[in-house]
Amino acid sequence: MKIAIGCDHGGINLKPVLVDYLNKKGIEFKDFGTFTKDSCDYNDYAAPVAEAVASGEYDRGILICGTGIGMSIAANKVKGIRCAHCHDVFSAKMTRLHNNANILAMGERVIGPGLMLEIVDAFINTDFSNDERHVRRVNKIKALEEKNFK
Ligand code: RB5
Repeated sequence: MKIAIGCDHGGINLKPVLVDYLNKKGIEFKDFGTFTKDSCDYNDYAAPVAEAVASGEYDRGILICGTGIGMSIAANKVKGIRCAHCHDVFSAKMTRLHNNANILAMGERVIGPGLMLEIVDAFINTDFSNDERHVRRVNKIKALEEKNFK
């Protein structure tokens, strides 16, 4: 599995924890930045991560900002992205099982490193259920994109 990761200044303290985790697990990833505490726009990191996942180059994305909200809204503007904003393990697991979410967004000002890693673990290690009803619902999301995204 290849993972694209990114953060803004609001997620700059948690991203190194994530990097460390991915390195220790031997998971291939690319860090799209930001790399400093300087104030920046979450959009500028959500977009390349989301595009890298939408293109198929990366299997999943993980985004961190202050709340996770800006990142998730921006990432979901990229066609093909189903970005889930999760701050608990149950939601991270369910969004993989039921929504086939391909990006996880979290907020550094909301959760700590321990919970973040449990959420990441659930997100990475849970497969889409492939149940007919969930496939149908994800396909309806795709149809909505086709109708509304240029
Ligand atoms: C930055 O101050 C903050 O607005 C950003 O990290 C994020 O929380 C936006 O949704």
